[in-house]
Amino acid sequence: MQDLQVAIVTGGASGIGRATALLMARSGVRVVVADMTEATGAAVVAEIEQAGGMAMFQPLDVRNEQSCEALVQATLSRFGALDAAFNNAGVSGSVGLTEELGMAQWQSVIDVNLTGVFRCMVPQLRHMKAQGKGAIVNTASIAGQMGTPGSSAYSASKHGVIGLTRTAALEYAKHGVRINALCPGYVTTPMTGGPTSEFSSRTLEKALAMTPMRRLGQPEEQAEMVAWLCSDSASFVTGAHFNVDGGFLA
Ligand SMILES: NC(=O)c1ccc[n+]([C@@H]2O[C@H](COP(=O)([O-])OP(=O)(O)OC[C@H]3O[C@@H](n4cnc5c(N)ncnc54)[C@H](O)[C@@H]3O)[C@@H](O)[C@H]2O)c1
Repeated sequence: MQDLQVAIVTGGASGIGRATALLMARSGVRVVVADMTEATGAAVVAEIEQAGGMAMFQPLDVRNEQSCEALVQATLSRFGALDAAFNNAGVSGSVGLTEELGMAQWQSVIDVNLTGVFRCMVPQLRHMKAQGKGAIVNTASIAGQMGTPGSSAYSASKHGVIGLTRTAALEYAKHGVRINALCPGYVTTPMTGGPTSEFSSRTLEKALAMTPMRRLGQPEEQAEMVAWLCSDSASFVTGAHFNVDGGFLA
C-alpha cells in the first residue's frame, strides 16, 4: 500500500469502516475517519494514533451535500492529498413488506445508502479527475445482487450503488480513477448484532444456514478487499463488484 498515502473512510466509526481505517493506518496510510457519531469516530482515531499511525476525525452526515463537500476540503487541508475513498456509511432500515414500508422509510434508506454515496463521490471525483489518479470503493452488498424479502429499500439502494459504481467507472477510467464496489455477505458488526440492529435472531440463523462457510464474516475480512482495491496492486481493476461473502452468492 506504499502508493496509498491518504484515504477517506465514511462510516469509519464502526464495523467494516472502522476495520478498514485501522488496517490502512497500520500500513502507513493517513486516514480520515468520517462519521455521524463523533465519540466512536474519535475513539478510532485515538486507537490509530496510539498504534503510531496518523488519522483525523471529520464529522459527516452523508444526507447533507455540504457535509460531503467539506469532507474532501478538510482532508486536503489537513493531509494535502486524497488518493482513495471508501464510501461505506450505511443503514439497514426497518424490516417489513414493501406495501407497509411507507414513503419516509423508503426515502431515508435511499438517502443514506445510495444518494449518500453519490453526494460523497461528486467532490472526490472532481479532485481525482484533476489529479489524474485515484481509487474509490463503494459499499454495496450481496443484497445489491438479489432480492431480499422484507428489505426492499435496502436491496434497491444497494443495487443502485452497483449501477452508480459501474457507470462512474466507465466515465472516469480515462482520467485514471478506478471505481469498484464491495459486496459483503453477513458480517458481525453493530448493524447485524448491535442493540439498535434491525436483524432478528431468525434472520441471522437463516443467513448462517445460507452461508456455505457456516459463519458470519469479520469486518477485517472486508477491510482486506477494500485496502487491495484502493492500492496500486489493483491497477487494472475498475467497474467491478466483489463478493466477500463466505460463498453466499455462489
Ligand atoms: N454488516 C453486514 O452484514 C453488512 C452486509 C452487507 C453490507 N453491509 C454494508 O456495509 C456498510 C457498513 O456497515 P456495518 O455493518 O459496518 O455497519 P455499522 O452500523 O457498524 O457502521 C455503519 C456506520 O455508518 C455510519 N452512518 C450511518 N448513517 C450515516 C450518515 N447519514 N452519515 C454518516 N455516517 C453514517 C454509522 O454512524 C456507523 O458508524 C453499510 O453500507 C452496510 O449497508 C453490511
